[in-house]
Amino acid sequence: MAKTNRATFGSKLGVILASAGSAVGLGNIWRFPYKTGNNGGAAFILIYLGCIFILGLPIMISEFLIGRHSHANTAGAYRILAPGTQWKWVGRLGVLTGFLILSYYSVVAGWTLEYIIEAVTNSFSGKTPEEFVASFETFSNSSWRPVMWLILFLLATHFVIVRGVEKGIEKSAKIMMPTLFILIVILAICSISLPGAGPGIEFLLKPDFGKVTSGVFLSAMGQAFFSLSLGMGCLSTYASYFGKNTNLTRTAFSVGIIDTLIAVMAGFIIFPAAFSVNIQPDAGPSLIFITLPNVFRKAFSGLPVLAYLFSVLFYVLLALAALTSTISMHEVVTAYLHEEYKMTRGRAAKVVTAACIILGIFCALSSQIFDLFDYVTAKIMLPFGGLFISLFTGWYLDKKIVKDEITNGGTIKYSFYKSITFVLKYIAPIAITLILINELGFLK
Ligand code: TRP
Repeated sequence: MAKTNRATFGSKLGVILASAGSAVGLGNIWRFPYKTGNNGGAAFILIYLGCIFILGLPIMISEFLIGRHSHANTAGAYRILAPGTQWKWVGRLGVLTGFLILSYYSVVAGWTLEYIIEAVTNSFSGKTPEEFVASFETFSNSSWRPVMWLILFLLATHFVIVRGVEKGIEKSAKIMMPTLFILIVILAICSISLPGAGPGIEFLLKPDFGKVTSGVFLSAMGQAFFSLSLGMGCLSTYASYFGKNTNLTRTAFSVGIIDTLIAVMAGFIIFPAAFSVNIQPDAGPSLIFITLPNVFRKAFSGLPVLAYLFSVLFYVLLALAALTSTISMHEVVTAYLHEEYKMTRGRAAKVVTAACIILGIFCALSSQIFDLFDYVTAKIMLPFGGLFISLFTGWYLDKKIVKDEITNGGTIKYSFYKSITFVLKYIAPIAITLILINELGFLK
């Protein structure tokens, strides 16, 4: 392999944490609970888990190997691995998808900043559940505050991106991930022990398959891709910074398990609390923002200091988790412009940040545009991306490359090479196509 002067991650733990930092974010703590609420609860979660482990992990490994073998941004990867073919469009589709997701995702990331301020100024204390709902509405309907936070968040992302891969991405993930994990466990326990939490727990654990429609399947699959950061070359861009000893299968398992645990625990924070204070589970994008303050207020009613500390810490960590995800999306587009158009990294990053601020403002001001971006990216672009990625690795790419990458040149004994390639060749393309056809109604 030609020597390159591209940056690499500094350690094995760094590789896992940076990838998990990309995967764990608002997708787990904001989007997963609200999609679960909109899609009827436990049955959705079961289908989601199936999508994560059957489709998600093999596709993640496929992205890893594409990135590590090509040592390039996602569009460059297809140019290098499949020169002179149309596969480059898969990379370009990914860049566009990342750009669109980053724009509306930053709006929600901005909301977390507003809630940091609320937590710091202690404005949760003494409010009723109805007042939490009202104050979210006042905030999201005022135009300048969400826009201000959105811009601030994208500037923070920009700042880490220009500091480069190892210093910026790896360090932030190393500190933040374990702390977030512990806090989430504590909050889940608090929420479950609230009075009236029972129906919320049942909502999460008792599947009602009568409610499962084709739409639930597409939502669950879209959420699985979204949460694992799959289908747009995000993890392939990160994998282009992996060292040659990284065990791709094991890394994918670790990331998948961390990501799933955090999402499911977020469910255990939100639903018991929501049912306990009579918030409808299908409240939509505002769900966690109107539910969570109740957890801090009610679960620690005798301990105001603890309630204060935990609420500040939680929103700070949530914002940081969102930041390690926005960084990963920003990196896809920045690396693409930098390597394909020979812009300097700084210049490329500026273009991305500016363009996302403009698109993000539209999303912040119009919930229709926001919903449209969410729908088109998670339910159409990511599944198509995943479909093409599995076809590429399963059918097009030289088997020797695939085997070499998955087994690290034959040195890894249990790499699941056979099962992975079987899924990529048959299961994933067929399942994704059926779910897409079924819901989008191509046949109707
Ligand atoms: N997975 C992240 C989350 O759950 C969001 C994210 C980061 C993402 N990179 C992505 C989603 C790439 C889709 C594609 O919050």
